[in-house]
Amino acid sequence: MTAAISNRLDRSWPEQGHARVPYWVYTDPEVYRLEQERIFAGPSWSFVALACEIPNPGDFKRTDIGDRPVVVVRDDTGAITVVANRCAHRGVQFCQKDHGNTREFMCPYHQWTYDLRGNLIGVPFRRGVNKQGGMPEDFDPASHALQRLQVAERHGAIFASFDPAAPPFEQYLGASMLGYYDRVFDGRELRLLGYSRQRIPGNWKLMFENIKDPYHASLLHVFLVTFGLFRADQPSEVRMDETGRHSVLVSSRGEQKLNETTGAMKSFRQDFKLSDPRLLNPVKEFAGDATVVMQTLWPNLIIQQQSNTLAMRQMVTRGPAAFDLNWTFFGYADDSAEMTERRLRQANLMGPAGLVSIDDGEIMEFSQAGVTPYDDESGLLEMGGRDTEGVPHMVTEAAIRAFYKHYRLVMGI
Ligand SMILES: [Fe+2]
Repeated sequence: MTAAISNRLDRSWPEQGHARVPYWVYTDPEVYRLEQERIFAGPSWSFVALACEIPNPGDFKRTDIGDRPVVVVRDDTGAITVVANRCAHRGVQFCQKDHGNTREFMCPYHQWTYDLRGNLIGVPFRRGVNKQGGMPEDFDPASHALQRLQVAERHGAIFASFDPAAPPFEQYLGASMLGYYDRVFDGRELRLLGYSRQRIPGNWKLMFENIKDPYHASLLHVFLVTFGLFRADQPSEVRMDETGRHSVLVSSRGEQKLNETTGAMKSFRQDFKLSDPRLLNPVKEFAGDATVVMQTLWPNLIIQQQSNTLAMRQMVTRGPAAFDLNWTFFGYADDSAEMTERRLRQANLMGPAGLVSIDDGEIMEFSQAGVTPYDDESGLLEMGGRDTEGVPHMVTEAAIRAFYKHYRLVMGI
């Protein structure tokens, strides 16, 4: 099977292996098509919603897995169903609202109607009109339900998979990544704080590369370096699961002493002061020393914990050269009003116009622009060596190498 796929793509990886990324992975429509099939519709778990976004029976949320639209809905029993947003009749995208509450879903085209589990419960003119027409005698609504996905919910976050062969969610994360996941999702009820959304004119993998790359964070981000949220000299680590597909970047802010490395950096600006220092007034809330943990979960999610701002960053692919980044900011139901305000204030670091993440959005656009005309060339990934192992520092691109190791396995290239 692997060989057949390689032939289909007619592409081969550079001989330097994980230390290179060929630029055609960002541009080739056939690679993109295969990613949809093998990665997003494959045996993976994609984040779709927080449970607190759809708290009541009938609440639904429209979203996407890769480029396939889906609907996440809670039924009367409290159970969550995820269905393809595609009528079983003629394929119409029946749900056009991002959020809402409903008793049933009705396709606007011919009014085929489904219950909250995706079962077909109504077909107009099924018996015909005046004894004419109608569906065939043997038409069985039970065999024309909406396409139902596998669903996994853990501690308030909901994931879905198109592939019934996806392993159990906990096994899919692996013990170490599950530990980091449970650090934020510790079983407490979550509180939705708000959304932001942006379309980035770059390939979706650039986003994963960016978050798996601590090397850039201390160089690109004037804000992080100047105000001490993330510096190359702070205690940090990069860890991956056994497959290489998931990873974490962990860093501790510690005391704010300046060393020579930081003081000499171009992105450090001693003359910059905050008009409102409350923007960076973090309080410790998690066990351990880490003040930043950025976790990437294959294939579509970044769990962000920077100081007290928490968010899910969901990626939705929009062709080889664009993706949507959907930010869902949250806290805990038992947060004090002061803590909620703190989280919201710190959320200004993130999102499309965030004081930090605005830099990344721009860089990804520049990356796509740079590689697009040169799909026979490749990018270099040798910072910290050429292997794919985790390390107790941040001067490394190992997590990106590990990501592509797994990517090549899944894609058969
Ligand atoms: Fe960044």
